[in-house]
Amino acid sequence: KPKLKKKDFLALKDFTTAEILDVLNLARELKKQGKAGQPLLKGKVLAMIFEKSSTRTRVSFEAGMIQLGGQAINLSTRDIQMGRGETVADTAKVLSSYVDGIMIRTYKQSVVEELAANSTVPVINGLTDDFHPCQVLADLLTILEVKGSFHGKKLTYIGDGNNMTHSLMMGAAKVGMNCTVVTPESYKPQERFFKAAQEEGKLTGSVIEWTSDPVKGVAGSDVIYTDVWASMGQEEEAEERIKAFADYQVNSDLEAHAKKDYTFMHCLPAHRGEEVTAEILDGPHSVVFHEAENRLHAQKALLTLLMGD
Ligand code: CP
Ligand code: NVA
Repeated sequence: KPKLKKKDFLALKDFTTAEILDVLNLARELKKQGKAGQPLLKGKVLAMIFEKSSTRTRVSFEAGMIQLGGQAINLSTRDIQMGRGETVADTAKVLSSYVDGIMIRTYKQSVVEELAANSTVPVINGLTDDFHPCQVLADLLTILEVKGSFHGKKLTYIGDGNNMTHSLMMGAAKVGMNCTVVTPESYKPQERFFKAAQEEGKLTGSVIEWTSDPVKGVAGSDVIYTDVWASMGQEEEAEERIKAFADYQVNSDLEAHAKKDYTFMHCLPAHRGEEVTAEILDGPHSVVFHEAENRLHAQKALLTLLMGD
């Protein structure tokens, strides 16, 4: 079976195109097998640390571990000593002696990196302010299933230049899919992540571009993707962001510029009436629940490749 060279899954940039495709292929295989599949992680334990809320990440990782014959332990930073100031390094060393893998959702990417540097078991990034790589594995799996291939396809991400944007740009670049990012000028993705995706795109033949013009960005799109305007940790900016993003809603006027058979995606949770209308989110082009289900299959593959014997 294919193996990932890195111990940890912290960001998509660390993986080759072939490795990402290996994860997607195994995900398709495990999805086919369903719950009747082999207990590939029999007796293995995953610790899950959450400093932010979660529905999909928490439940798909836990259900995935159980389906693979292992178990998961859910830890909120409010309950463990890390929340009272125990260092990330000490936490990593201690958890490494009990479990076979650690998944963490937190604010700073540097915390995930420090955890990985001090852990002897694989560490998985379950979302930071910078990246959401597990979500993008599920998104790529969904696009592959719905569109059949990546090459020549155009994904338009519209909204806030956030963690999803950073991981989607890099994910698209890795698999050779074109990606247009549409944000207001003052909510662009971070320049260093945009540049890194563009550089990667040059290697795989995918065009990664930015525009502030929603109509131009959506023109001829195969996939329209959006995310919340205020991410976790930005709750206080919510009102000001609603104003700033008013022209960036995915609605029936905007979808008219995409391809007729375009697909609508959203990592969820969604705010109907803000970044997307209910008509689109619950409409015939939307695959958001298929996409959410794929979190389970993509992560079962990832867990197997990182933690399997
Ligand atoms: N998409 C996603 O990561 O959802 P949760 O915040 O519910 O985990
Ligand atoms: N950008 C969102 C994604 C949630 C899955 C956030 O960070 O809150």
